[in-house]
Amino acid sequence: MSLRLLDTVPDFTQDSTIGPLRFYDWAGDDWVLLFSHPRAFTPVCTTELGAVARLKPEFDRRGVKVLGLSVDPVDSHRRWAEDIAETQGTTLNFPLIADHDRRVADLLGLIHPNASDTATVRTVFVIDPARRVRLTLTYPASTGRNFAEILRAIDSILLTETHKVATPADWRDGDDVIILPSVSDEGATALFPDGWTAHKPYLRTVKQPAKGG
Ligand code: BEZ
Repeated sequence: MSLRLLDTVPDFTQDSTIGPLRFYDWAGDDWVLLFSHPRAFTPVCTTELGAVARLKPEFDRRGVKVLGLSVDPVDSHRRWAEDIAETQGTTLNFPLIADHDRRVADLLGLIHPNASDTATVRTVFVIDPARRVRLTLTYPASTGRNFAEILRAIDSILLTETHKVATPADWRDGDDVIILPSVSDEGATALFPDGWTAHKPYLRTVKQPAKGG
């Protein structure tokens, strides 16, 4: 079964484009974006890897390490990286797990047999420094993912980690946020002395607090 929110991601060691990769050692104390895709030399995956490579500085800025996975041997990943450079205009600047024996795919529940017995589905895990799953999504093979949305969700997760707020639909970094229902009005005034707005007793908004504070 696939991992669910707040499940602990188990450790694994597998080949990768940077050599044998032991997940816990590689992740260290950082957040991780782990994403799987069906196979090497497939068109949608080629564009996805290019998109993530171009966004890599944004993941770096947020302290999130990026790790891809597909069920091919490492030499095929390396040859595919040349195609990605040629067609996407960017080098593959993060490691790709070469899960040739599907050991990691089975461990993390990335094969959905009703979709394919052999290919990994397009799953994303955002993993925190305690190795817990903080976001997961799964797309069908024919639908490429929007990695800007994943960055947006990471911004929300990092903000709501340190402040008693939640983010509304379509929120973007810098927009007003929602005060958690568990915070009383008195508590809200203590936390946000510059003021907040009650649209309804259960819907109270405030300017976005500074991240990390
Ligand atoms: C792709 O990655 O391009 C792909 C894989 C399976 C079905 C359709 C597209």
